[in-house]
Formats: sequence, C-alpha cells, structure tokens
Amino acid sequence: MDSQHIDLHRSVISLSCALDLVGIDEVKHGKRVAMMAWHIADKLGWPEAERLSILYAGMLHDCGVAKIREHRQLTESLEWDGAEAHCLRGAEYLEACPPLAYLADEIRYHHTRWEELLLLPLSQRLRLRTNLLFLADRIDVLQVPYLNSEQILVAAPRIVECLQSYSGCLFAPELLAAFAELARSQAFWLAMDPDYLDEDLRELGRDVAEVELGYAALREMARLFSRIVDAKSPYTEQHSERVAQIARCLAADFGIAGSDLDQVEIAGLLHDIGKLRVSEDIIDKPGSLTSDERACMQRHSYDTFRILQRVFADSKIPEWAGLHHENLRGEGYPFKTLGKSLELECRIISVADIFQALAQSRPYREGMHLADIIDHLQQLVEDGVLDGEVVAKLVANADRYYELAQGYCPID
Ligand SMILES: [Fe+2]
Ligand SMILES: [Fe+2]
Ligand SMILES: [Fe+2]
Repeated sequence: MDSQHIDLHRSVISLSCALDLVGIDEVKHGKRVAMMAWHIADKLGWPEAERLSILYAGMLHDCGVAKIREHRQLTESLEWDGAEAHCLRGAEYLEACPPLAYLADEIRYHHTRWEELLLLPLSQRLRLRTNLLFLADRIDVLQVPYLNSEQILVAAPRIVECLQSYSGCLFAPELLAAFAELARSQAFWLAMDPDYLDEDLRELGRDVAEVELGYAALREMARLFSRIVDAKSPYTEQHSERVAQIARCLAADFGIAGSDLDQVEIAGLLHDIGKLRVSEDIIDKPGSLTSDERACMQRHSYDTFRILQRVFADSKIPEWAGLHHENLRGEGYPFKTLGKSLELECRIISVADIFQALAQSRPYREGMHLADIIDHLQQLVEDGVLDGEVVAKLVANADRYYELAQGYCPID
C-alpha cells in the first residue's frame, strides 16, 4: 500500500463512531458536539476551513477517553478536576498522527476555562476554537437528559441561562452570544436527532476532496486508534501494536509483501477497535465471564468489521481484522467462517493475537512462558482450531516472536 485515496471526512466520522462506543449511555456525543460547534462557527462567520477543522475536532475531542468510567465523570458535571488528563492524552495521540496533528492544540485545551486561556501564550483564534469545543461539549452534557424528546425545547432556555452565567469565566462572551442567538431556533435542538445528525454530517463532507495518504500516515491513523483501545486496560497495553508487529513478521515469513504486508499490519493494529464498546469492568474482570458479559465481549469483532468497512472500504483490512476470532472448525465468531475460506492473512492475525495475549498477563492469569505457549498453540493445532503452518512458522522463530510479543523490540 504505497498510498491510498482516503475520504478523510468519512474516515473521521467512522472513527468518531468507534469513539462513540465508549459512551454507551449517550452515544453520538462527539458528533453532536461537532455539529453544534460547526453551527456556532457558521453563525460567527468563520471561514470554511476553520469550520471544518472544528467539525473534526468536535468528533475527535474525547479521543483521550478510553474508559467508560472516565466518560461518565465527564458527562455528569460542568467541570471536573480530572478532566485535564484526557485532554493531554488526546492531544498526545493526535500529535503523533500526521493527518490529524493540526487538531492537537484544540483538543489539548478543550476543558480549560476562558479566563485561563487568556493567560496562556496562544493565538486568539486557537483560544476561540478550543473554547468553542468546551462550550459545545457542555451544551451537550446539559441536553443529554432531554435527547430525542421535544422536552428539549422546554429545557433550552434554562440551558442557555445556565451557560451564560459563566460568560467570561468558563466561556468566551462572543461564543455564548452566538450560541444564545442560535438556541432561539427550535431547529438547532431538533437537528440533534441521531438520524438527522448523520445526514447533516455526511452532507457537510459532500464537497470535501479525498486526500491521498501514504502508508506511513495511514499506519499512524491506525496506531492512534489502537492506542485508544489498548488504553482501556493496563493488561492490554500495546496489545494491538504487538499483534500488528508479529502478524507483519509472520506474513513476511510466508512471502507476503508490498501492499498486502502493509494491510496485514494495519489490520493487526485495528483488530480490536470494536472493543471500545466493551466496558473495562468486563475486560479487567479477574474471574470467568457470565454469559451476558461474554456476549458483550464477543460482539467486538463484528463491530471491528463494520467500523473498518467504512474507513477502508476497498481493501482487505476489514476482513482480515474482523475475522480474528474465527477458527478453522467454523466455531469462532462472528461469521462462523470455515477454515478453508479463511484467508492466510486472517489465520496469521488469529495466531498472532492468541500468541501475544498468552505472553501478556491478564487479570485471571500471569503471562505464560514461551514453552508453555508453544504447547498450548500446538494443542490448538491438533484440535483443528489453529492453522498448523502458521504456528510452525512462529515456532521456527519462537524467541524472536516472543520478544515481539513482550515488547522487547523497539517499535520504529
Ligand atoms: Fe472532554
Ligand atoms: Fe466530551
Ligand atoms: Fe479480539
């Protein structure tokens, strides 16, 4: 994959869908924030480029929040002492991702009071953009109890009044004035309906040109999301990154090269993106899962498949990533695909995933020694679950793969 034409607008929407999964109770928080911020920017006559950048920043503003627990705190009060952590984390993630790095500063200060922003050495435009995110974010927190109901029209004046009482201290007066003006129209609030929201967001991207992203940039986008997923639990630190490295090396051992090799790596990075929806209480649970919890856990690979279909529509990435829990006997999930229809790349990612997970400690067991892992994998081959050739390649270079699994090898 030297480069690929990517519809960045559509990709950010899809990534925002993935992030939305963290919300559970009030999904689409990011999209509502984006849309409201866009309307306020439009009211203020901001130029097209700035409106679009606020739209994307809105969709991604909480990318530093990986834990459902953390998200709940953020949505329960107007200000919260621990809010800065997710701003710093989000900015750090975005900075490392070239196509989106220009949004890092907006995200960095999106819970900083206006009166504090004025004291920081930032440009006035940046202050306004980041404060607009803060404002839209807090409007959303106040409107959540009335979502999808006309009651929002009754509550709207109270929401405006509440936020205006923070003029000049939490929020810039000119932003509040534009919001108050817009808030008088019922349309502003009713457009938050989930169906309308998706339609409007798509529409705004109609004239946005596709961008050509090189493989390195695509990998950084994938890495951004793998970091968010892996941050859900201390047990899965760097899991996706390690799986991607192992899968890439295994694929290379099989002679896979060029674009296919790059896609294996990206699929490895994103294989668990659907896990954003799974509560960390389940991921971190020390004992065995109840059937309800298992069902919640198991849906992640299907969610991965669907999310990646939107971003990487014309590639093998959705399939290679989404099928990582299938097995040769057709007893995996979510498609029950039989072994003979599983592409080699899928089988490689499955083996890499299991191998890395066994090498890493989990809440219910310690990380296993290499010899025990090999025994276990060979048993799975005998049982007809895992691909014997893939496991054999791994065993032939076991020490090297074990190092990759444990993160001893630096990642370039
Ligand atoms: Fe936030
Ligand atoms: Fe937020
Ligand atoms: Fe998984």
